[in-house]
Amino acid sequence: MKKIVTTTLLLTCFIAFSQQKTIDQKVDALLKRMTLEEKIGQLNQYTGDNAATGPITINPNKQSEIKTGLNGSMLNVLGTQHTRQYQELAMQSRLKIPLLFGQDVIHGYKTTFPIPLAEAASWDLDAMELSARIAATEAAASGIHWTFAPMVDIARDPRWGRVMEGAGEDTYLGSRIAYARVKGFQGKLGDVNSVMACVKHFAAYGAAIGGRDYNSVDMSERMLWETYLPPFKAALDAGAATFMNSFNDLNGIPATGNKYLQRDILKGKWNFKGFVVSDWGSIGEMINHGYVKDSKEAALAAITAGSDMDMESNAYRYNLAQLVKEKKVPIALIDDAVKRILRKKFELGLFEDPYKYSNPEREQAALNNPEHRKAAREIAAKSIVLLKNEKSVLPISKQTKTIAFIGPLVKERKQNMGFWSVELPEVDYDKHVISQWEGLQNKVGNTAKLLYAKGCEIEGDNKDGFAEAIAIANQADVVILSIGERRDMSGEAKSRSNLRLSGVQEELIKAIQATGKPVVVLINAGRPLIFNWTADNVPAILYTWWLGSEAGNAIADVLFGDYNPSGKLPMSFPREEGQIPIYYNHFNTGRPAKNENETNYVSAYTDLKNSPKFPFGYGLSYTTFEYSNLKLSKNKIKSTEKITVSLNVTNSGKVAGEEVVQLYLRDKVGSVIRPIIELKDFQKIKLNAGQTKTIKFSIDKEKISFYNANLQWVAEPGDFDVMIGSSSADIRLKDSFELLN
Ligand code: BGC
Repeated sequence: MKKIVTTTLLLTCFIAFSQQKTIDQKVDALLKRMTLEEKIGQLNQYTGDNAATGPITINPNKQSEIKTGLNGSMLNVLGTQHTRQYQELAMQSRLKIPLLFGQDVIHGYKTTFPIPLAEAASWDLDAMELSARIAATEAAASGIHWTFAPMVDIARDPRWGRVMEGAGEDTYLGSRIAYARVKGFQGKLGDVNSVMACVKHFAAYGAAIGGRDYNSVDMSERMLWETYLPPFKAALDAGAATFMNSFNDLNGIPATGNKYLQRDILKGKWNFKGFVVSDWGSIGEMINHGYVKDSKEAALAAITAGSDMDMESNAYRYNLAQLVKEKKVPIALIDDAVKRILRKKFELGLFEDPYKYSNPEREQAALNNPEHRKAAREIAAKSIVLLKNEKSVLPISKQTKTIAFIGPLVKERKQNMGFWSVELPEVDYDKHVISQWEGLQNKVGNTAKLLYAKGCEIEGDNKDGFAEAIAIANQADVVILSIGERRDMSGEAKSRSNLRLSGVQEELIKAIQATGKPVVVLINAGRPLIFNWTADNVPAILYTWWLGSEAGNAIADVLFGDYNPSGKLPMSFPREEGQIPIYYNHFNTGRPAKNENETNYVSAYTDLKNSPKFPFGYGLSYTTFEYSNLKLSKNKIKSTEKITVSLNVTNSGKVAGEEVVQLYLRDKVGSVIRPIIELKDFQKIKLNAGQTKTIKFSIDKEKISFYNANLQWVAEPGDFDVMIGSSSADIRLKDSFELLN
């Protein structure tokens, strides 16, 4: 038996090796036939006719350039018909090298899933992998080969609008999610249901100073390695085919022209074999950064640094040939970049069939397929976070006679889709997006009377609608208020200094709360917002983010208890903007406050608590969970040994529910100081009412290692706290162990 297994294994390795070898041989053979212009063409990417996702440069010659082999990739070209038209142009070129079609398929394609930050709140890695898989299936059926996702930038600053696109503030959670998403998108590359992933933005874009998009980043090497790089490495370990560099400068050097990031770390130390695409126009933007004087110098800096493909800045297209002729760019650099790109085109099977991903029948069957919609509804429900539930306002009883549904987002469809959803024709929003109003109607049918009033707009100070809203609230047994952000209020270039609920929305909440009726507030947003009055006064709050096509149904599932909420916040929610950046895994400092009221000569604000309004990892359920019986298999270990941590979790409430059991560690003393608490593992478990499960975690050397002052990954002897929590601020069980010399 063992022999058979070994032989099969060897055979599989041999086949994989020889396939790769043939691809390499094919790439080499093709490269030999290419002119310098054709090679540079492969390094160029143009935007197509769909909504532009950056400042567009008008080029009337795109089509003829494709026909002459001067462009290798397009973004923003959607659909089998459209992609086929462009591919047909490429097939007229001398060498018939197929185009690669890239697209921001960030949270679903036609079936739109919750925004990535919302999905991260589910802490459900399988669900996130599935969501990426479905997005890939739909996109790949629609002619797309490549998604510009996942975004794995760690984000500790909710002023930065792009927090909606990532997995939040935590490196460990972010790394697990990055891995799952790459696996989901790519499946088995070359399969018609898969797309290449593009891990972005390399690197440290999430640390833009002041949360202002595109701003500079200044951070220590240790911070870079410990906090910002691990999700990229995790995505690479999952097999990510491509990386995107980024707009920001890192310690004074634009990421796009940053050799240390791209050549030394990514292609050197990490041995990345795929290719790097620039961010939109980011090669040309190095002129604005003041790093290069013109487009020619920009091209030189970018190719030297390891940027393989130029998205929309035309710097490669117009300068690389000259730079090669002047011997400033060795042809080997160009060849390396071209080979990386061609290899992917071969791996995708595009040379065998350039229209492989443009199949109208498959497209018809895949888009908004009922199975996909079902998954979208499930993950949308899992992404919702129950922030507050007093007086058992939730779940709403299905016997309730009259329900008032109030707010500017109740009847919206498009807003549920969130930023970075793939633009749909207007009619498709009506056809394919479930509004919250429809979701409620679907849920209660004729059993309850539903009343609606808009109340106010998302922005502006008009309160004319308040009277009607108050009137219907007075007639109802329960009031649901749906407020928050428009979908273009969080996203790229959507930084904000003020995170309050916009317009008169919080005043509307106050007016409705004053009726004395039980009130549930739904907050739809792409980032943590500040809503202190609501949080302190309204009995029930659900953070519903932007949940996608099935938002309405998913919200109704949670409102009525058909799904028991299980989401946990992937970012800390600040009390005031003045606390930002705010994150749970901070250092203790030399003068930590003993409690929230102490301010004198301690590290605290004199006018504000240090703690967030809602902490990382926080989220309630309609049931309760008790934690007990924490056991560590050992209290002293050598670095080669492992500790098994076991504990019991009991559902002590009356309904089934899911809990995210979180394992945190603290390294008490380090040659470099360590955070007061760090997430190191978690498990999402489902328990029936009254049921108890034993959970086991394993702690090994990897989990207690960190970068020392010399950037070595080390585990240092000493004491460690083990904390098991229902959130980062709700530690239920605690023990400790010692790592021996
Ligand atoms: C964004 C990228 C995106 C690209 C293409 C840029 O503005 O930063 O994340 O993939 O546009 O749309």
